[in-house]
Amino acid sequence: MSKKLRLGVLVSGRGTNLQAIIDSINEGKLSAEIAIVISDNPNAMALERARKANIPTAYVKPGKKSEFEREIINILEENNVDLIVLAGFMRILSPNFVNHFPLRIINIHPSLLPSFPGLNAQKQALEYGVKITGCTVHFVNEVVDGGPIILQEAVPVYDDDTVESLSARILEKEHKILVEAIRLFGENRLRVSGRRVFIDKEGFDKCL
Ligand code: GAR
Repeated sequence: MSKKLRLGVLVSGRGTNLQAIIDSINEGKLSAEIAIVISDNPNAMALERARKANIPTAYVKPGKKSEFEREIINILEENNVDLIVLAGFMRILSPNFVNHFPLRIINIHPSLLPSFPGLNAQKQALEYGVKITGCTVHFVNEVVDGGPIILQEAVPVYDDDTVESLSARILEKEHKILVEAIRLFGENRLRVSGRRVFIDKEGFDKCL
């Protein structure tokens, strides 16, 4: 039997995506283990959610970017993490960090990339006037919100939407595709070719 996928989850805030991962694992829907939850914000509700689930946590104080990232890298390596999940982590990681873990970092973003990268994606979509937006899980590369796309889910924009109502509708889908992307990664079913990510129909028993 293959070893369970070890996750390192980076968070900055509320942590509903983290909670979706925790719940899926606890319900037996996702074969993985969260080895460590790391935050740049000591007051993140996500840290509270992790503690409640008996998951080890670490707070890394933002300072000089290279030192901040070095500390995070050390923690991830000490914890033998296979996959790093950015679940509402609101900092841009340097090329040095990203290249340390090639095709082993994924991010959830609340828009259909490449539309509306960066901050406040839901507000950007509403202000632009699109009728459909959504969410994206992608591998992280050196370009902000620009890595190869693993999964996307579309969400309609209604005339009476506010940023809050639209964000809530997108969030439901985020939870679904983030967990699904982790599952596909763990089953070794993602093949990356240039910008494209192909999903194998059958999984392999991967020796991690
Ligand atoms: C989510 O909507 C996530 O897509 C977004 O932050 C929120 C975190 O919510 N991430 C980004 O905008 C990254 N650019 P959560 O803390 O409840 O998971």
